[in-house]
Amino acid sequence: MNAQAILTGNRPRKRVAILISGRGSNMAALIEAAKDESYPADIVLVMSNRPDAAGLLTASAAGIATVLIDHMVFGRDREAFERAIQAALEAHRIEIVCLAGFMRLLTPWFVNRWSGRLLNIHPALLPAFKGLHTHERALAAGVKTHGATVHFVAPEMDSGSTIIQAQVPVMPDDLPETLAARVLEVEHKIYPQALRLVAEGRVGAA
Ligand code: GRF
Repeated sequence: MNAQAILTGNRPRKRVAILISGRGSNMAALIEAAKDESYPADIVLVMSNRPDAAGLLTASAAGIATVLIDHMVFGRDREAFERAIQAALEAHRIEIVCLAGFMRLLTPWFVNRWSGRLLNIHPALLPAFKGLHTHERALAAGVKTHGATVHFVAPEMDSGSTIIQAQVPVMPDDLPETLAARVLEVEHKIYPQALRLVAEGRVGAA
């Protein structure tokens, strides 16, 4: 038995793809967590829908396979775009998909195929502040507590069951940027925790 098999109780690590559109700091947090061989998931693929996503360079530097599937090439045909994603996931024998700042809405065609195996991180305490500009909207609403949610993806946007949430306080002098930075710090903690729970089969979609 090799060292990895001992550490993982002989269960093979789940093969994970991360879909990004930009910076990829959550992606980097997942890659970092998965460097530990006892972590139950292995990040084997990073895919971007944008050629300029900085996270692609981070992933390549970490020795992870990257794929660019530019949605612009497919025009309005969302399903053709998603079929291309699906083909890449199958080619890499992916078992779990993590969305991390992936800025395209996915159709039920794709979401239902990956039910219970498709995760997303959202920078708010869902069901509060679905959609974009969550930090601005949290400040405008005057909430005292904000945070982040890792959830399973369901066909309706930002609506699947929650895996983990983390709260942060909102400070009186917060700007969207300062609040975003505080939330991002907890995002980087809870995404690896949530992926661990899913990869170990300890949590499933409702
Ligand atoms: C994060 O705030 C995440 O919650 C949201 O988009 C942002 C992506 O940041 N979905 P990064 O690309 O992971 O740095």
